[in-house]
Amino acid sequence: MRDQLKKIRDEALSRINSSRSAGDLESLKIIYLGRKSQLNSLLRNVKELPADQRPVFGQLANAVRQEIEKAIIHRLRQSSSESNQIIIDETLPGKDLSRGHYHPITLFMRKVNDIFSSMGFEIVDGPEVETTVVHFDQLNIPAEHPARDMWDTFYVSVGQKLKPAKSQLLLRAQTSSVQIRAMAKRKPPVRLIAPGRVYRHEATDASHEAQFHQCEGLVIDENVSLTDLIGTLKKFLQEIFGNEVKIRIRPEYYPFVEPGIDLDMSCRLCGGRGCSVCSQRGWLEMLGSGMVHPKVLQNMGINYKKYSGFAFGLGIDRLMMLYYGIKDIRLINSGDLRFISQF
Ligand code: FA5
Repeated sequence: MRDQLKKIRDEALSRINSSRSAGDLESLKIIYLGRKSQLNSLLRNVKELPADQRPVFGQLANAVRQEIEKAIIHRLRQSSSESNQIIIDETLPGKDLSRGHYHPITLFMRKVNDIFSSMGFEIVDGPEVETTVVHFDQLNIPAEHPARDMWDTFYVSVGQKLKPAKSQLLLRAQTSSVQIRAMAKRKPPVRLIAPGRVYRHEATDASHEAQFHQCEGLVIDENVSLTDLIGTLKKFLQEIFGNEVKIRIRPEYYPFVEPGIDLDMSCRLCGGRGCSVCSQRGWLEMLGSGMVHPKVLQNMGINYKKYSGFAFGLGIDRLMMLYYGIKDIRLINSGDLRFISQF
């Protein structure tokens, strides 16, 4: 019987040590320690041994049982730590989590704000839903004035009567309305910018969107001149593009300034040769500006004999296109992650 015990032990330990899974070990446990195991039947037969040999054999058989049990537990631990090592392989490269980030327009507007702040400009905000009184009348564009057609405006219906009765609501088509709002709470001298979204009912192309961004500028003080306006705009553009920036200035009519001028920049997307963004002209219109009209100063409650001022309305999206080399304005609001994630 001792030989039988030894054979069972050796066979069990060898099979346990070469087992490959927890399932294998569970089967070996049943085979070697279960009710129908050889070891169990040997123990059941102990009573057939001479009485003096029974305790010794019993002890021996129990020792073999314990040894097999321990071997199973040990192998189980070993194999679970082996399989853990496969699951957590510290040498494998980690997965990159994609992080959100600011939209390029936000980043670029911050750049614009920082430059004007460093030049002493205050940054103010204004509503995107505006009244016709502020957006047109007070900017010297009364109802029926043909200049209202310069802005293809979205009107808003709220089913409510507004005050004054002739007033209507619209989505602002220019940030110039913020000039009026800002001056309701300020006295000259002022130096401010008002960046924000504007809306126009326009057919879109590579340089025209129906929703884009402008940055209004307003400076009012004694003896402000057109030279100050041009100098400020040049300095701002040089801060963005460097001293080599190529611009040209053309006279333009805006009812709220006199004289009015437009500023074009040489199209950096085609090197001035002509492309779809600059409509093959080699130049791209960047902003409208001029000396604030005396009537508008009056509407702001400012003594126009003492004070003068200049204003400008900068196209932020177009400026950003030339800065980053974006060849179609419609990409900016497309929500296309392949575009946005490049910034
Ligand atoms: C205006 O909106 C005037 N309020 C500017 C102004 C302010 C003049 C203060 C005088 C004094 P304009 O419609 O030209 O002007 O627009 C100004 C700039 O906005 C343009 O030069 C251009 O850079 C940009 N812009 C105009 N329309 C679009 C459009 N559909 N898509 C993208 N950018 C546009």
